[in-house]
Amino acid sequence: MDSLFLRRTPLFLVCAVAACLLLAQNTIAAEDLGYGGEDDIENPLEGDAEAIEHGKERYSARCGFCHGSRGIGAKGPCLSCNKFKKGGGRNLDIYSVIAGGLTINGRPTQMGGFSRTLSDDDIWSIIAYLRNEYKDRVARGEFEEGYNPVVEEAQR
Ligand code: HEC
Repeated sequence: MDSLFLRRTPLFLVCAVAACLLLAQNTIAAEDLGYGGEDDIENPLEGDAEAIEHGKERYSARCGFCHGSRGIGAKGPCLSCNKFKKGGGRNLDIYSVIAGGLTINGRPTQMGGFSRTLSDDDIWSIIAYLRNEYKDRVARGEFEEGYNPVVEEAQR
């Protein structure tokens, strides 16, 4: 960069631009993660801090037993890896699996439906929580090569 530019630009402006760049790096857009696009529905509670907290509580009470703490996977697959190989990763897919359960080749799996025991808000909150958990894990570098979530979790 031209040193004349730096000398004439107030420091606070340089700092503001740097802060914006940093912020932009930490925020991953939903569409870049393969959901929320034209062929999907929006999660009305995506990114909502209160809903994420509520989702965390509901998740721990109803799902953690099979899917592991923070969705890292146990008997059931990982739900905070942004990979949903069985039922699909769009908001639409995840909502329908949680509400109606997962059938494979017409057969019910151990993943039963929760539409009778979780409200619409509960389900969207859980999805918001899981999406947020994935972003947190990315920010912590958990998906970088060489990281083994199972080993790391055991050490925590
Ligand atoms: C009794 C154990 C159990 C409970 C409780 C449970 N699940 Fe599951 N879930 C599973 C299993 C097992 C699968 C995979 C089924 C298969 O492949 O046969 C699954 C699959 C899923 C999938 C599809 C994953 C993919 O890879 O596409 C989602 C999404 C899901 N569960 C979300 C939830 C949520 C959210 C809750 C809590 C509301 C929950 N599950 C509660 C056992 C459970």
